[in-house]
Amino acid sequence: MNAAQAIKVLAIEDSENDVRLAMRLLRRAGFDVEWQRVDDLAALQAALVRGDWDAVISDFSMPGFSGLEALNAFQATGLDIPFIFVSGTIGEETAVVAMKAGASDYVMKDNMSRLAPVLERELVQCARRAAHREAEAELRRFELQLSEAQKMESLGTLAGGIAHDFNNILGAILGNVELARGELEPAHPAVAMLGEIQKAGLRARDLVRQILTFSRRERQALHTVALHPVINETHGLLRVTLPAAVELELRLVDKPVYVNGDATQLQQVLMNLSTNAWHAMRGEAGRIVIGLEAVHVDAATARSLSGLAAGPHAHLWVSDTGSGMDDATRKRIFEPFFTTKPTGQGTGLGLSVVHGIVVAHQGSIAVESTPGRGSTFHLYLPAVSAPPAAASVSTPADEPVRGNGEHVIYLDDDETVTLVVVGLLERAGYRCSSFTEAAAALAAVASSPDAVDLFVTDYNMPGRSGLDVAQEVSSMRPTLPIVISSGLLTDELRAKASRVGVCAFLEKEDTFRDLLPLVGRILGAET
Ligand SMILES: Nc1ncnc2c1ncn2[C@@H]1O[C@H](COP(=O)(O)OP(=O)(O)OP(=O)(O)O)[C@@H](O)[C@H]1O
Ligand SMILES: [Mg+2]
Repeated sequence: MNAAQAIKVLAIEDSENDVRLAMRLLRRAGFDVEWQRVDDLAALQAALVRGDWDAVISDFSMPGFSGLEALNAFQATGLDIPFIFVSGTIGEETAVVAMKAGASDYVMKDNMSRLAPVLERELVQCARRAAHREAEAELRRFELQLSEAQKMESLGTLAGGIAHDFNNILGAILGNVELARGELEPAHPAVAMLGEIQKAGLRARDLVRQILTFSRRERQALHTVALHPVINETHGLLRVTLPAAVELELRLVDKPVYVNGDATQLQQVLMNLSTNAWHAMRGEAGRIVIGLEAVHVDAATARSLSGLAAGPHAHLWVSDTGSGMDDATRKRIFEPFFTTKPTGQGTGLGLSVVHGIVVAHQGSIAVESTPGRGSTFHLYLPAVSAPPAAASVSTPADEPVRGNGEHVIYLDDDETVTLVVVGLLERAGYRCSSFTEAAAALAAVASSPDAVDLFVTDYNMPGRSGLDVAQEVSSMRPTLPIVISSGLLTDELRAKASRVGVCAFLEKEDTFRDLLPLVGRILGAET
């Protein structure tokens, strides 16, 4: 036993001397005892309520108050500590009654040397029971977390599946809106309506994108990303959405800051944070600041920001003069589906997506907020050095891409996608043959290989994957540029595709936005 185990003992006993004797024995056995004696029911109950006892010892028969009554009162408290009868009068039968009633053990006053070992044994057992209870509670907590995680996972899979199909449908809607607008004079009354369809469609696409990011478990391919362009682009998007009463200010360091990341996801993070900031103004005037600086995070700060390693970081922040949050809200904001917005106005996914993206970037996020004063979200992302010049491919500006009759073959099993693509390419001056069957597309290349300038194929098609198709095309015409479009561009896919001669990739979701600039770049369009 521990040399001096400190314990607090409650003694139920009419004789002060007997208690002192018992305590002396316990001290001699190595206990550091503190004790209190009570000898009636009221005092016992008061003591039980008041004290943080480690054990109770009780006489069996006292004037006007029985040991069994004491035991009853003790049991009513639900305490799990040793209750040991110490008695001179206890006979074998009474002892049986006492044990049946739930006493831990009994010790005869003429054999008091048993008290210390009995108490020690009972204390150990109590500690075991307590540990067991704690372990069981922990297990229940884990089970709850696990079932919560499983629920989220199946929800994620389901949502991801729906979102994926939904995305293609939205693509067709948005693409056709674009085409229809091209057919109309700007003054035509339907132009405004098409604009509304487009706005709603874009909102739906944002939502789908949130769900896709949220449900995607795979690691994203990360590249060196310059943060200034990401912020500036977000700034541009926000300026058109925010009402005039909301000021938007950028405070960015002059020197470029780079992180290893995914530009689209980082933009999504800024959009989600800024949208929340705007909503926190609740229709009133206010100011949002987006800031960027390069910082060196030291070991102590890294420890305080979960998930960070010490070293150079990009510190991005979004602060607002909105409603702020109380502690109870702040603790829950990263939970999926947690929202304080009325039904229909918030899904509660915004910040869980932000959190997921930040974690996937090996970063950390912290929140400061004062109710009524506003909030600041701080993001720390590990900084990397500038990429070699060639890797910094910038997306071309908004200048329209014009082709000159170059022939593009577009293969996708989804017919609505191909129809929109043909429309977009032909309007831009390209010739486009679309196919929904790989065999037909391959036959078209085989019949007149030199009449084709670019081959674009979907990756995920029934029967034959885009990779197989690319391989066959490149064996027929090794110099023909090939592009693969996929909803999930993993590192593995990129590597395999590069080996079979694929020269560029299209993020499926963004086909209608990115296809023309990409085609222009590959075919060297005059812009
Ligand atoms: N800048 C902020 N100021 C005050 N409260 C905020 C701020 N950002 C987030 N919150 C609180 O956190 C909650 C969760 O935010 P989150 O972005 O995850 O979901 P949402 O904005 O409610 O819905 P969604 O983004 O899915 O449309 C919000 O409902 C709001 O209560
Ligand atoms: Mg939000």
